[in-house]
Amino acid sequence: MLLLSLVLAALLSFSMGALPHEDFLQCLSLRSNDSSTISSVIYTRNNPSYSTVLESTIRNLRFNSTNTPKPLVIVTPSRTSHFQATISCSRKHGLQIRTRSGGHDYEGLSYVAKVPFVVVDLVNFRSVDVDVENRVAWVQAGAILGEVYYRIAEKSRTLSFAGGVFYSIGVGGYISGGGFGLLFRKYGTGGDNVIDAQFIDVNGRILDRKSMGEDLFWAIRGGGGGSFGIVLAWKLKLVPVPATVTVFSVSRTLEQNATQLILRWQEIAHQLPDEMNPDVSMFSVNSTQDERKTILASFSSLFLGTIDELLPIMQQRFPELGLSRQDCSEMSWIESILYFNQLQNQPLEILLNRTFRNPLGGQYYKIKSDYVKEPISETALNGLFSRLSDEEASSAIIIFMAYGGIMDRIPEEATPFPHRAGNLYKIYYNVNWQEQDDVNSQKYIDWSRRVYNYMTPFVSKSPREAYANYRDLDLGSNNVGITSYTQASVWGRKYFKNNFDRLVQVKTKIDPENFFKHEQSIPPLH
Ligand code: FDA
Repeated sequence: MLLLSLVLAALLSFSMGALPHEDFLQCLSLRSNDSSTISSVIYTRNNPSYSTVLESTIRNLRFNSTNTPKPLVIVTPSRTSHFQATISCSRKHGLQIRTRSGGHDYEGLSYVAKVPFVVVDLVNFRSVDVDVENRVAWVQAGAILGEVYYRIAEKSRTLSFAGGVFYSIGVGGYISGGGFGLLFRKYGTGGDNVIDAQFIDVNGRILDRKSMGEDLFWAIRGGGGGSFGIVLAWKLKLVPVPATVTVFSVSRTLEQNATQLILRWQEIAHQLPDEMNPDVSMFSVNSTQDERKTILASFSSLFLGTIDELLPIMQQRFPELGLSRQDCSEMSWIESILYFNQLQNQPLEILLNRTFRNPLGGQYYKIKSDYVKEPISETALNGLFSRLSDEEASSAIIIFMAYGGIMDRIPEEATPFPHRAGNLYKIYYNVNWQEQDDVNSQKYIDWSRRVYNYMTPFVSKSPREAYANYRDLDLGSNNVGITSYTQASVWGRKYFKNNFDRLVQVKTKIDPENFFKHEQSIPPLH
């Protein structure tokens, strides 16, 4: 009792002064089995570290303005009992929980809500335990992908995980939304490579694959973060990579035949070997010849093999690109992660650094995605290029990412991520801007909506598919109060196609009162 009083006193004193959520703090301390430690992982608005902790992983600065709603409290659990106490007390006091692992949510849903809320930040839940012999790793959900790659490489340079390209992405959100990266044409999505999980539900029960059952285990591997409960850890399957891999990048302007190369790329990229992840990035640049604007198309890929193995394949399948030995570099797989993050020649330890550096430019951005089933015409491409030359698009980038490979062979219903056979490539639309332009952010967002509208006839239809991890609230959102199945199915079918209904069934079973919710969470059936 004495201990409890001391903890309460500490909690109240470090949050100094009037506390509208005092009852919530008292509840946390009472419900936590180890009340002596919970005080050190609670940040109220009066705590001097509150802003630092909140901003530590706000990756999209659009959601870091003075007008952005802020959490009443941030909890950074270091024990499972801290999660249990936070869930229980948030329910009791009518607060919503936003779970944050790496903070990369494109719409900021892991740290912004329109109702009173608590952020549960997994920064202290990030151990990575690699078992090379059995080719598995237990990874806590707050780890970033860079930590996972680094810890695996510490023990083996010929094993890896099917993770994403950018090393600062959190494992929690990445796998929850599917997970697409350098190895996905060879080994599938992140979610395809999870073999067990540790999960906490709305009642505070800690579940593993066996105790949660196959339906919930299916749902959390791609059904979108923040809908079902909190993932504490994933057991990942590690996959083989060769000791030497090759990377290449070849850039051509419109004057250097880029349009014809992209048209050809559309025909063949999805049929290239599974060992590649071909993509083509397009952006506007000043032409070196006459200072006029042109489009630069950059064709790049990882290849799981040597230059000598790659060149004949490219000469046979895509001779028009003219790939030469000088365009290619050999390295280890872990070094290729540095390469694709534009961190060449940096020590590997940089992958442990959670400080974010967006290699694509500005820290304010709006993202959209599309799937393409039929090659788009030259006229359609020219229309896209003309929009990329707009003033608002000076830092925009559009990337075509080839599908095919194992993605054609994994059934659509294997995990909630449904974008499998029949897709030639995915389009990633990124418009980004700098701080000084934030007053004009609407004009950039409008540009991205215009481009998306323009692309309507050329991309997937009924539904127009989109990638759940490239969250886009333009596709629709739940009401703040009562959620509607009909309303949610509009964006739900774009992200999950027919898997949406199974996700709703799982949600109805695991969280019927809809405690875990946000603008695009899966609704239960009422
Ligand atoms: P964040 O912490 O913001 O969480 C995202 C969502 O998941 C939120 O709804 C959150 O509540 C929920 N969530 C987080 N942790 C959870 C947990 N432990 N349990 C339950 N729910 C949880 N994607 C990709 O597939 N391949 C790529 O290469 C890239 N590249 C990329 C680059 C950059 C710069 C950005 C900003 C984003 C990407 N993405 C990506 C998209 C990325 O995969 C997506 O935003 C993930 O959801 C991010 O996961 P975080 O944990 O970082 O985000």
